[in-house]
Amino acid sequence: MTLTRREALVGGAAALVLPSSASVATTPDAVPILRAGPATLQLAPENYPATDVWAYDARIPGPVIRVRRGERLRRDFLNELPQPSTIHWHGIRLDNAMDGVPGLTQEAVAPGDRFSYDFVANDAGTYWYHPHVRSWEQVARGLYGVLIVDEADPPDVDREDILVLDDWRLKRDARIDETFGNMHDRSHAGRIGNWVTVNGLAEPRREAQRFERRRLRLVNAATARIFDLELRGLRGWVVAVDGQPVEAPRMTARLSLAPAQRSDLIVDVIADPGTEAQLLSVERDGSYVLASFDVRDGGLVDRRDEPPLLEPNDVPDPDLASARRVELRMEGGAMGGLRGAEFGGQRLSMRELVGQGKAWALNGRADFPDEPLISARLGETVEVAIQNDNRWPHAMHLHGHHFRERLQSGSLGPLRDTQVLGPMEQRAIVFVADNPGRWLLHCHMLGHAAAGMSTWIEVI
Ligand code: C2O
Ligand code: CU
Repeated sequence: MTLTRREALVGGAAALVLPSSASVATTPDAVPILRAGPATLQLAPENYPATDVWAYDARIPGPVIRVRRGERLRRDFLNELPQPSTIHWHGIRLDNAMDGVPGLTQEAVAPGDRFSYDFVANDAGTYWYHPHVRSWEQVARGLYGVLIVDEADPPDVDREDILVLDDWRLKRDARIDETFGNMHDRSHAGRIGNWVTVNGLAEPRREAQRFERRRLRLVNAATARIFDLELRGLRGWVVAVDGQPVEAPRMTARLSLAPAQRSDLIVDVIADPGTEAQLLSVERDGSYVLASFDVRDGGLVDRRDEPPLLEPNDVPDPDLASARRVELRMEGGAMGGLRGAEFGGQRLSMRELVGQGKAWALNGRADFPDEPLISARLGETVEVAIQNDNRWPHAMHLHGHHFRERLQSGSLGPLRDTQVLGPMEQRAIVFVADNPGRWLLHCHMLGHAAAGMSTWIEVI
């Protein structure tokens, strides 16, 4: 793809159309349908052809699914893809049978078939949904959407912006590069794209008033790219990470968002009227605009007050003294020096592992284990000491729970569901096993997950 960022700026002038769940089709008994299927959308600038994608309800992102905390969420998933699929509701604590993991919580939904998702959304926050079958391909083709669970008493803001970041690997004719899951991507950083979109657009523009207060809900739906973000003309506080309110919002102009992570920000628009406020992506070779706000004077005055705190979800505190500890050693990848690992009951060399599409090992195993990493009793505190023994960053995601990082200082980090580990880093996560069932723990660089970086825990 030869698009330049300048072209991106020109091509991004299209008005932003944000999908909403208000118009989804419904079955006679009024359960809304969520349909996954092929679609053709204009991802590249207007002077390029439209792109064949896979999408939910023919939109990228899929429809925003929105319920109030404590409400029941029902969707009849209709699979019109040429492959089996499922829906995983990322980051929310739900009934294990609704978690969307084939072979662990349900059978994959065959092409033409349906599956009824039905659960109570007890956690408020910003979540997202995506397939859990061949996710390195299906998510990269465009299958993702946002799930919002509103607080009983949402914070007072003037407007809300849902911004879903993604990168695509497009060819010169704007077609998707179909080399999904190749060993080079799997053994390196994953499938890093060459075309970045926000809500499926090159650079969405919105109107804003000076001194307006907005809530930004940022979601990274890319399969491998870590976004380093900067705010300009916006005075912002991070009020939630991965959907969970932080105890003390911090004012910041910079933040990093790894695959699958979310950030909720409260921002006050402080750019001068007639200028732009911006969300930028900061890269080695400079920054570029992801989304912009045309600021005008609406006669508002600078609030200068701290942002409101979000109401916390009901997450039990870990009991560190009684925690059960387990280690998770992550090895492999390019330049990783992994000689071999266990696969299907045998010891395979690195060369043989590559022949099986594997490049990574968790605790010496490159296959998906029959036995859970840990089997915890309901209510027990678990600490997973993760040792990232390789040269690549990873974004480890635990299903069905919110965890905290146990910091060097002994204190605990904010609640989250996806934790980045830099090359050769060690970090421990702790959580109360408060949700019964079988839950995946895997890297959200989705090619890595398929290439050996997936395991699971059991809560009984
Ligand atoms: Cu969004 Cu198993 O993950
Ligand atoms: Cu990884």
